[in-house]
Amino acid sequence: GDAHLITHALAKDTLSRLRDVETEQVAFRKGLVKLGRICGYEIIDGAMETEFVSIETPLAETTGERVKGLDNVVIINVLRAATPFVEGLLKAFPRAKQGVISAGRNEEAGMDDDGTFPIEIDYTKLPDITAEDTVIVADPMLATGSTMCAVLDHVVSNNPEPEDLFVLSAVSAPDGLTRVGEAVPAADLLTVAIDDELNEEGFIVPGLGDAGDRAFR
Ligand code: PRP
Repeated sequence: GDAHLITHALAKDTLSRLRDVETEQVAFRKGLVKLGRICGYEIIDGAMETEFVSIETPLAETTGERVKGLDNVVIINVLRAATPFVEGLLKAFPRAKQGVISAGRNEEAGMDDDGTFPIEIDYTKLPDITAEDTVIVADPMLATGSTMCAVLDHVVSNNPEPEDLFVLSAVSAPDGLTRVGEAVPAADLLTVAIDDELNEEGFIVPGLGDAGDRAFR
């Protein structure tokens, strides 16, 4: 349930360009792809083991090192803003299985007194998840955490507990991280930035605006 920062300099560089109001649709989408790739590499570096293997180069036999578990990765795309982010993650995990969950805040209902939004889940399609899998649930924004709590509830209640469960976001609000961490203690929360606060509409400030709108409109 703990939150960990992804501190790679290129992650911070890319996030800063995503935050910039001058970054238009194409650059925004490409930035999310790039950030997904960097985050994928950071997950591999920080959380996955390697093993030594013997390999044969064109000239000699030698010992190489391979990342273990790359065939047991499941990436869950929380529609819609996560789509370019996941495209980047797939460059780090090309053999990952993919799941899709369409979950969104019911903005008309407004924020509840407890600081959450009602979440509507319209569509889910997940691959089989096994106890050996590394599961990465990707969503660039973690604001109140309402969406992620609903998504994780769906994932956890329909599957065995995976070896590793990561919640990956680009920008998070402190309240959202706390809420998700308490709701699903088994999940490791990874984020590139923890911002100051949520405004009355439940938007992360300073944040990067509405990631879905900026990437898709
Ligand atoms: C955004 C974002 C998260 C959610 C975060 O999605 O991509 O899914 O809000 O907010 P929360 O932590 O308060 O639940 P949105 O509902 O705008 O849908 P979209 O991705 O389809 O634009």
